[in-house]
Amino acid sequence: MSIDDLRAQYEAYPYPARNPADESKRLITGSPSHLDELVQHVFGGRIDHSKPLRVLVAGGGTGDGTIMLAQQMADAGNPGRITYIDLSDASRAVAEARAKARGLTNIDFRRGSLLELDGLGPFDYIDCCGVLHHLDDPAAGLRSLAGALAPGGGIGIMVYAPYGRTGVYPMQEALRGMTEGLPPTEKVALARRLIQALPSTNWLLNNPHISDHRLADANLYDLLLHSCDRPYSMPQLAELADSAGLAIATLIDPLRYEPSLWIKDARVLKRLEGMGMLERAAWTERITGAFTKHIAYLLRPADLDAARIAPDGPDVIPVLRDIDGPMVAKTAPPGGSLEFDLMGSVVALPLPRLAGPILSRIDGKTSLGALHTAIEPTTKATWEQFLTQFRQLFDALGGLGKMHLRRG
Ligand SMILES: C[S@@+](CC[C@H](N)C(=O)[O-])C[C@H]1O[C@@H](n2cnc3c(N)ncnc32)[C@H](O)[C@@H]1O
Repeated sequence: MSIDDLRAQYEAYPYPARNPADESKRLITGSPSHLDELVQHVFGGRIDHSKPLRVLVAGGGTGDGTIMLAQQMADAGNPGRITYIDLSDASRAVAEARAKARGLTNIDFRRGSLLELDGLGPFDYIDCCGVLHHLDDPAAGLRSLAGALAPGGGIGIMVYAPYGRTGVYPMQEALRGMTEGLPPTEKVALARRLIQALPSTNWLLNNPHISDHRLADANLYDLLLHSCDRPYSMPQLAELADSAGLAIATLIDPLRYEPSLWIKDARVLKRLEGMGMLERAAWTERITGAFTKHIAYLLRPADLDAARIAPDGPDVIPVLRDIDGPMVAKTAPPGGSLEFDLMGSVVALPLPRLAGPILSRIDGKTSLGALHTAIEPTTKATWEQFLTQFRQLFDALGGLGKMHLRRG
């Protein structure tokens, strides 16, 4: 497939479909590239917002990742800039209008291919979300990005995963033959007719993890009519990273990949002991059948150790994301649990006894040392007791991307 075919698709259907007028109502956030998340997983929790962060968003589309990060950098007072690059003028126009609607001036918009970064960079952080799996040669794409990465930098990627997309690829094949040569709007019309007429045996109909095609035309096009789309299993993703001289530092969200979340049989779990993080993740992917995509932070192998941060000392600062700590503290009884929807399954995560007092005081500024000092008089918890319970809380909330860590 030529790069012109790819551009033509996104000119007809900028993806995802976004209305710049909605910027006054909400900020779309997600992964990869949420500022708190990337600071934890790429920079080991260390960031000095007086130093400009140099960011590339490769294949920025209609702007979700760009707008989120540009807004978060502006809010943090970081003087850095984001270079947005995409093949599609129509997609870029939407992204530019969204930036304008927010008054964001920290983005440089460019038309171009991530395969030809010609002298751009180096970048401390590169976002490439939902793009590599659409390239003829994804490894060449990742090599191009890795070549623009500054020392100590990292890449946040999202690629499609095979088992949760069961039913998508036979439908793509079926539609490819019968829609060849038609204009995009007719392809969409025909695909919608086919969906209405599918027999109950069809895997897409029976796949609870896929619902995109019921939404906007751009979603349907991206899901079923894309001219180039290859999913990556965990081992294939690790191989892709390796081929560009990179390693998977973190999978998002980490707890989704943990076998014991899904399998409760102790004898089965015992057989997995000794497996590394990636082997366990690959096992979980095969067993759940629910992963439609993988989100990962990729670093040069030599940078992996420096990028690790754990709740291990008084200077570590916890930051909550998308949850209201005091509200959870009020509603969760001591020793209770929190329920989350994870890929269609409800999981209950036990909370430690001190969850309430800790959660009600997390404000993104207070360190673990200060948190302990604040709750010690009422709870009588020693530093070790506090840390044990905080780790349990972090395993649950951090594992689900609801809490991040940084260093003061
Ligand atoms: C599925 S959209 C994802 C958009 C955005 N990253 C997001 O997550 O919302 C893929 C985007 O990648 C762009 N794209 C595909 N190949 C590209 C290339 N070689 N260089 C730059 N952009 C590319 C397309 O034009 C399209 O806008």
